[in-house]
Amino acid sequence: MAEAQWLDLGPVEQLQQKSLQQLTVGKTVIALSYANGEFGAISGVCNHVGGPLGKGCLEGDLIVCPWHRWRYDRKTGSGEPGYEEERVPGYEIKIENGHLWLNPTPLTKRHKLPHPALPLARPVKAERDPGAWRVLGVSTTVMEKNYPRYSTSETLLQAALDGAQQNHGAQTQLLRLNDLKFRNCEGYYSKSSHACTWPCSITQMDPNDGLTPVYEAMVHWADVILLATPIRWGAPSSLYFKMVERMNCIQNQITLFNKILIQNKVISFIITGGQDNIQAVAGEMLAFFSELGFMFPPFPYIAHSLGWEAENMERNMEFVQASAELKSGAIDLARRSVEMAERLCAAAKIVGDKMERAGRKAHRDKQNVKKPETVDHS
Ligand code: FES
Repeated sequence: MAEAQWLDLGPVEQLQQKSLQQLTVGKTVIALSYANGEFGAISGVCNHVGGPLGKGCLEGDLIVCPWHRWRYDRKTGSGEPGYEEERVPGYEIKIENGHLWLNPTPLTKRHKLPHPALPLARPVKAERDPGAWRVLGVSTTVMEKNYPRYSTSETLLQAALDGAQQNHGAQTQLLRLNDLKFRNCEGYYSKSSHACTWPCSITQMDPNDGLTPVYEAMVHWADVILLATPIRWGAPSSLYFKMVERMNCIQNQITLFNKILIQNKVISFIITGGQDNIQAVAGEMLAFFSELGFMFPPFPYIAHSLGWEAENMERNMEFVQASAELKSGAIDLARRSVEMAERLCAAAKIVGDKMERAGRKAHRDKQNVKKPETVDHS
């Protein structure tokens, strides 16, 4: 057996200063821990999607990955109790002449348990499934669930969906964000672009993530999305932003892998409010959804507001209820959107996954994308 080529990690006194650190020795990245007077060394690369274990934290003798909190024994590399077979390599260490030494030949091999992929992770079909046009309505208004109130944006959204069904034989689905329980984006992208995953890291960790049907319908089911929002302080609703932040993972797939999840899909908007700022609200939504790959029909939004001077919330609801024009505007918006989907489908592949740096702000492939540290997985 070949003699071990021990590598010098540095003076023990210095290494004892940190309870956990990420070190690169030769080609090997390790998570070096020090607790209760003892060192431990395991691979610094998490089995999940490569998180830097040495930058995590210690919970007793477990190292917690900083990206999505998978846990490993700090000395053996075995997964937390119940997941012992989920293993990263563990390394032999010794102290000699006041220095800590590491044998780079791992004591144990990396072993990844099979994790069944979520249905959301299935490949996006290049061509739509045949059948009726599929129109998704997303209502972002917020209200008290037990005592619902009249919503101008949702009323017009329902009129648009009914129009799509009656005039185009479309299959429709209405999702009210207000009915769904889902967590705020927790900033995985801020940890690292690779920590932000598709499906969303939260969806992967939380089997009850209420945003799953929204992802499913937007990415896999719908040809057309009609999105309705009230104007709140000159901006779309807070629930709109809560949803949109969770969609960073869709855009990030383009940045990381040139993988476009939204293709040949159309989105249009319904915006209502007591005061104005319609164009700013529309601008926010147009900009965001264009970055995901959505297409727009001609005149991609309808809107209503009484305006700054004329704001009068006592008659706003009545105004919308009585307005045949707004309802026919909503139905027309649905028509333009379905017709746009028809054109896109007929012209198939207007947007393909071969577009040069699409959605990446024209950056070159490797620019600004730092891959996670890798190590041989022997
Ligand atoms: S838990 Fe480590 S990369 Fe996700």
